[in-house]
This record gives sequence, structure tokens and C-alpha cells, in this order.
Amino acid sequence: MSMSAQEQQQLKKQRVAAAAIAQLSEGMILGVGTGSTVNAFIDQLGPWVGRLAGAVSSSEASTAKLKALGIPLVALNDVDGLSLYIDGADESNDRLELIKGGGGALTREKIIAAASERFICIVDESKLVKRLGAFPLPVEVIPMARRLVAKALAELGGRPVLRGGFTTDNGNEILDVHGLVIEDARQLEQDINQITGVVTVGLFAARPADLLLIGTDNGVREMHRPI
Ligand code: A5P
Repeated sequence: MSMSAQEQQQLKKQRVAAAAIAQLSEGMILGVGTGSTVNAFIDQLGPWVGRLAGAVSSSEASTAKLKALGIPLVALNDVDGLSLYIDGADESNDRLELIKGGGGALTREKIIAAASERFICIVDESKLVKRLGAFPLPVEVIPMARRLVAKALAELGGRPVLRGGFTTDNGNEILDVHGLVIEDARQLEQDINQITGVVTVGLFAARPADLLLIGTDNGVREMHRPI
């Protein structure tokens, strides 16, 4: 019996998750992201229980999964930085600049990425793009500034849409910005960061991934960040 497209995609996620497991080392405190690809990664962490010193988690959802597995949770403020962060993405270009935040955890994800020496991003091949922006860009905003921020985002050429019925783990709202043509991701990240009321923009360009692991039909492909 042939596999459905959904089953095939899940298989790619499991493959890339297994490749990320191979990057772990004994006794490390690991940064753990959020999303369905990361869930596939956490599902394979069983043999590492007792071998990892702990994990810093980017969301309540990942925390719950890690706790259930018996991995000790560590607060970022209790460590002096992390050697490795593993997380997914909604889009990546070939510079390993990313759009993240489809799951709404972008702020904690960006904090952990900034605190980590190495950021390995795990995706299936559908996430690789020539130019970022087909996926609506998530922007976390302070609720009272939503309208002000939306106006500024429209001036940048986007069409911000409030993510209905969603509150971030930090108690904020998300505007998903459609229609942006992202030529210079670093510049746009900076510009959106400057808007008063923005907590975090889901562009990871100033701190891109270091290694992209890509799950494909035939196995896992690697892309390194260009120097
Ligand atoms: C979570 O907020 C996001 O940044 C995720 O990393 C991203 O949405 C990828 O999720 P999937 O692995 O579910 O596609």
C-alpha cells in the first residue's frame, strides 16, 4: 500500500530528527525548539534520558513533552550559554536565514538561538525556498500596540493579520504578515525590531542557523551556513 503525502512528510521529519539525535553529546544541556519536527526529535530522545544533563525549552508544549520523558528542565538564567540548540523552521533560504514562529514560540526560540554556540535547524524539504516570505511572517506584539504595529508593518509593504484566538506563552499576540517580498532579511529583521510594540519578529537572519538538516525522500541532506 502506498503512503499518503502526510505519512511521507512525517517520515521525512522522523529521518531528519534521527540525524539531529546523532549530533548530541553526553552530559550536554540542550536547547530544544518547538513544532512538529521538534516533536519527532523529542520522540526519539528516549535513549538519551539520563545521558543529557538537561534541556532548556522554548515553549510550554515542548516542556511538557520533555518532562513526560524524564529529561530535566533547566532555566536559561541558570546556565552560562548552551553548546547546541535544535529547532525547526517554517522557511529557510540557502543562507540559512529562517522564518520561524508558525507555532507561535518565536520569542523564546530567538532567545535560545542567541544563547547557543551552534544552532542546528531541522526541516523537511518543503521548507527550502529561494526567497523568504511566502510563509506569512509572524511578529509577536504587545497587545495594546497591535494597531500601531500593524500600521507600521503595512507601511513596510505587508498585510498583517491577527492570529485569532491565540496568545503566546508570554501573554502577547501574533500578527502574521502576508505579502512581504523579503530581499534583505537582515535589514527587514532590524527594521521590524525597531517598531515600538514589537516583541520579536520571526526572521532569524542576524542569527541564522549554522547547519540545516533537510529530510528528503532519499535521506537527509546537509547545508552549512555560508561564511
Ligand atoms: C514554532 O514557533 C516555530 O518556529 C517552528 O519552529 C516552526 O513553526 C516549524 O514547525 P514545524 O516543525 O511544525 O513545521
